[in-house]
Amino acid sequence: MMNYDAVRTDPPDGTPDEPAVRADSLNVVRGTRHVLRDLAFTVPRGQITGLLGPSGCGKTTLMRAIVGTQAKVTGTLDVLGHPAGHPSLRTRIGYVTQAPSVYDDLTVRQNLDYFAAILDPGRSAADRRADHVTRAIADVDLTSHADALAGALSGGQRSRVSLAVALLGAPDLLVLDEPTVGLDPVLRRDLWALFHDIAASRGATLLISSHVMDEAERCHRLLLMREGRVLADDTPDALRARTDSETVEAAFLHLVDEAAAAARAKETTR
Ligand SMILES: Nc1ncnc2c1ncn2[C@@H]1O[C@H](COP(=O)(O)OP(=O)(O)OP(=O)(O)O)[C@@H](O)[C@H]1O
Ligand SMILES: [Mg+2]
Repeated sequence: MMNYDAVRTDPPDGTPDEPAVRADSLNVVRGTRHVLRDLAFTVPRGQITGLLGPSGCGKTTLMRAIVGTQAKVTGTLDVLGHPAGHPSLRTRIGYVTQAPSVYDDLTVRQNLDYFAAILDPGRSAADRRADHVTRAIADVDLTSHADALAGALSGGQRSRVSLAVALLGAPDLLVLDEPTVGLDPVLRRDLWALFHDIAASRGATLLISSHVMDEAERCHRLLLMREGRVLADDTPDALRARTDSETVEAAFLHLVDEAAAAARAKETTR
């Protein structure tokens, strides 16, 4: 396995002890459904935290709450030292949604120019903005495709354009919703290498969702979710050790069984 010890853990703006995200008694209701139930966890800065769990467990809902686009959120949810949704967080968070949108009839560079202008309307000199765009394109390794129409890119290349958009403002927190879904193993590996690079070189915090358990092994920390609850908040090594499991997938199944047994025991003592 790769060694990620070199990843810095102190944040760029000098408050090493403050986590990137702190949730306590966090609840979210969507429609009539109680989707997130009493979550309490922290996401440390400068690291990659994986948000894992089966389809429908609430990963996207939690990410939406963190970036401030989710309604009916109650409890505590602090992001980079502010309540989630605080206006000052807008440029400090990069968010790539599960169905990222890029404009097919624009080139890669034109897509980024467009989003750079929205992010920074009239504030920077045009050439500084162009530098940010060029850097973001290079970061996701699309320099040789910068002038290709987005509509003519492969699926993996398109998802890297969305990632470049999220990188534009040099965010302190990157929230990526299933960024590797549908990609081949080589691209998945390359993207994970890129995520580690972003954490290491920029000191950024990454929160990345997936329902592919083998991706869990590539994270510094894991939040394992099931049915709107956090089952575990730990490092992959500690999780495997605690459950006496070979893989994170086996550890997850162990915790699911444990939670089910605890629920049954509670029922019978009632
Ligand atoms: N707009 C909505 N209105 C009501 N309920 C919703 C809405 N969107 C999602 N839900 C419900 O909230 C729960 C969590 O959904 P969410 O999208 O957060 O799951 P997820 O873990 O991201 O799943 P996936 O892995 O499939 O993306 C699901 O039970 C879903 O049915
Ligand atoms: Mg989702």
